[in-house]
Amino acid sequence: MLNSDAGTGMILNDALKKGIVIPGFNIPYLPMMEPVVRALRDTDTFGLIMVARLEWIKFKSGSMKSIRDEYEKLKDIRFTRLHLDHVPVIDEDNLLTDFERIVTEAIDLGYNSVMIDGSRLSLEENIEKTRVVIELAHQAGIPVEAELGAVMGHESGPLPPYEDLFASGKGFTSAAEAKRFVRETRTDWLSVAIGNIHGAISAATRTEKKIEARLAIPQLEKINDAVHIPLVLHGGTGIAKEYLMQSFKKGIAKINIATAIRQPYERLMNDSAKAAQEAVYNEMLDIINNQLEIAGSASRIFQY
Ligand code: 13P
Repeated sequence: MLNSDAGTGMILNDALKKGIVIPGFNIPYLPMMEPVVRALRDTDTFGLIMVARLEWIKFKSGSMKSIRDEYEKLKDIRFTRLHLDHVPVIDEDNLLTDFERIVTEAIDLGYNSVMIDGSRLSLEENIEKTRVVIELAHQAGIPVEAELGAVMGHESGPLPPYEDLFASGKGFTSAAEAKRFVRETRTDWLSVAIGNIHGAISAATRTEKKIEARLAIPQLEKINDAVHIPLVLHGGTGIAKEYLMQSFKKGIAKINIATAIRQPYERLMNDSAKAAQEAVYNEMLDIINNQLEIAGSASRIFQY
């Protein structure tokens, strides 16, 4: 059992050992954080509060600092940690970012873990840039999530038909590359592409219902056997439940969820802030109790 002030790296390793999945929830609008934290506490569930760069650029989370400030007001260390999601080296619009500056700022602000996303680079360049971030974060004593393979969906162009994508395995994480990547970067967690896709975020498509994705479980097993570190499933909204449950037994220790709680909030936010928050709370309860079946995970991780 861990103390409730344990670092996020220890928590994820413990979760992997115990077969517990840790959800991360994205906060594209600051008022969404309150019902997310409340639902985690009310269901005795441990989760990460997350913000990605695109959420302060394309949505209304403000900045890394405004998310950090809101988190400081609402946090409960028995149930939450703060994570910086997707800092792409090349972003969804194909622009180079100042990822080192962003990660440095997050570390200075007190984020408990960070993600570097070099997945639009070649393997060699991904390794090189990920190592830069690992160096910065490990000096500060916090864990890093990196990505290998193409988890599509954030780009503004049309996605290839899902059935073609799944059948061809195009962009899936290779087990051999994952082995090399983890050995050479020493990343703490690895985000994998195994049929999962992100919910759309372009202004034209962000209100659309996400298609139901499946997961290539045999591919996940190969990756898991090759690396033995906590694996992360992005695009956590709307994955068929039987695949989700299998993936949690094969190395997935963290799942990222954005669209499932953003869309109910957006549908109501212009009418009633309170109703929009309650829609997030109700969706959170459904995710925790029914979709992921993880209520009570905090008591399985911590002694308090
Ligand atoms: P969804 O929007 O599909 O839930 O994906 C979220 C995500 O992976 C954020 O990193």
